[in-house]
Amino acid sequence: MNQSADHWNERYRDAESVWSLEPNQFVVEYLSELSMGSMVDIAGGEGRNALWFARRGWTVENSDFSDVAVEKFRERASRAGVLDRCVGTVSSALESSACQTGPVDLAVIAYLQLALADLAVAIAVASGALKPAGTFFGVWHERGNVGRGLGGPQIPELNPTVDELVAHARSAGLTVDVCELRERSVTRNDVTGSAIDVVLACSR
Ligand SMILES: C[S@@+](CC[C@H](N)C(=O)[O-])C[C@H]1O[C@@H](n2cnc3c(N)ncnc32)[C@H](O)[C@@H]1O
Repeated sequence: MNQSADHWNERYRDAESVWSLEPNQFVVEYLSELSMGSMVDIAGGEGRNALWFARRGWTVENSDFSDVAVEKFRERASRAGVLDRCVGTVSSALESSACQTGPVDLAVIAYLQLALADLAVAIAVASGALKPAGTFFGVWHERGNVGRGLGGPQIPELNPTVDELVAHARSAGLTVDVCELRERSVTRNDVTGSAIDVVLACSR
């Protein structure tokens, strides 16, 4: 059910930008007020979230198992003049090697589409990368997005629910501060509609 690094590498080779250059709207909404520090984005793709933090003075690591995506991140960081604050890491999200710069103040996972048992491992890896009192933030397409929302994987098991995420976060030793459904406006092939996301914010 999980997709391979080869699959993602092909997607990243096929387009200059697979995802928007802007950070995820919920990353901006929930994390703008954090004091500047260090962060890792696990499965961060082309690094849109990490670059947003780096531009704001943070020390960042963008980690993904697609070497094509990580190289794009490094090029973007260089063009933005923030490469000295950026580390790109090629690693599975299921291994502690996903974070090379930890412990960090903030770990992010955005739209990592994994079978539930693997997602629990990825959240535990993110939790393990945090400093004491660090912040974990995650966002996914929620299961209700299947068939009702625009975009996102249409396989129910790849879209976690609030209850599943709360259980995974607690098992990873995190305190859940917020876990809630949020709608997001998206446009795909000239059609605009809503995606149903689930946002998880935790402290260690
Ligand atoms: C939907 S994209 C989201 C990318 C990025 N987080 C963002 O929001 O722009 C999912 C990303 O997860 C990565 N990915 C999928 N499975 C992974 C795994 N097991 N380990 C590391 N990265 C993985 C893919 O390469 C892809 O970049």
